[in-house]
Amino acid sequence: MMIEAEQPLPADEPSIPNHIAIIMDGNGRWATARNLPRIEGHRQGVASVRRTVEECARLGIGQLTLYCLSSENWKRPSHELDFLMHLLEQYMIEERSLLMEQGIRVQMIGRRDGIPERVLNEIDKTIELTASNIGTCLCLAINYGSRGEIVDAVKEIAAEITAGSIEAEEVDEQLIADHLYTAGMLDPDLLIRTSGEMRLSNYLLWQISYSEIWVTAKCWPDFLESDLHEAMEVFSKRERRFGGLS
Ligand code: IPE
Ligand code: IPE
Ligand code: MG
Repeated sequence: MMIEAEQPLPADEPSIPNHIAIIMDGNGRWATARNLPRIEGHRQGVASVRRTVEECARLGIGQLTLYCLSSENWKRPSHELDFLMHLLEQYMIEERSLLMEQGIRVQMIGRRDGIPERVLNEIDKTIELTASNIGTCLCLAINYGSRGEIVDAVKEIAAEITAGSIEAEEVDEQLIADHLYTAGMLDPDLLIRTSGEMRLSNYLLWQISYSEIWVTAKCWPDFLESDLHEAMEVFSKRERRFGGLS
């Protein structure tokens, strides 16, 4: 498959992932290997985000979902968390015009509580500004945890049953999907994880049921367009059976 196309890729072509989700891991190790503080890895990681977002938009990928901060990452030292919040805020401000130029629509999944108000304001501004763009959807998973997302969905559904607006018998897979933060989004076709870890770390557990997984040993700051192309190339050769027979 040629990945160099300048034209948008056809959304209904099964050999091309319409939705790519990425666990951007290994920023700290990238920095430590260079005798730099961990936060330098996060700073470099932003350049990889920019490259990857731009390339997905150029290729006409329907959605790119990036794991920016997990609900478990709050266990980290406060100076690292403060820096991550600062980077997030800066990204939201500095990228706005580029996101608009590329027709990217920004969305967020995750719990808002715990994220500083000033960061939320900048995220909200970007979401609002880009809301009517029709290019790639850039979905940022911030303070995101898949188990927490399922808990929130179950609470909402239980409240609706208690209020009598739905019957318990009406609960099915579609109804649950409609109550997740990702309601209305298609499931990821391809899940990429950098830095070689073979785990999901509480990312999109419901949504990746049938995603193809591709892991690279490279740390996130080293992730290039060519790595994205390689992942897509491998994806195009996978046989997705969804439980059926080939
Ligand atoms: C990923 O890199 C970024 C976040 C989790 C915010 P890490 O910070 O997890 O880097 P490693 O895994 O410690 O190398
Ligand atoms: C997953 O990476 C979260 C993000 C990339 C934001 P972690 O570094 O937090 O995952 P673990 O702790 O190695 O499982
Ligand atoms: Mg990590």
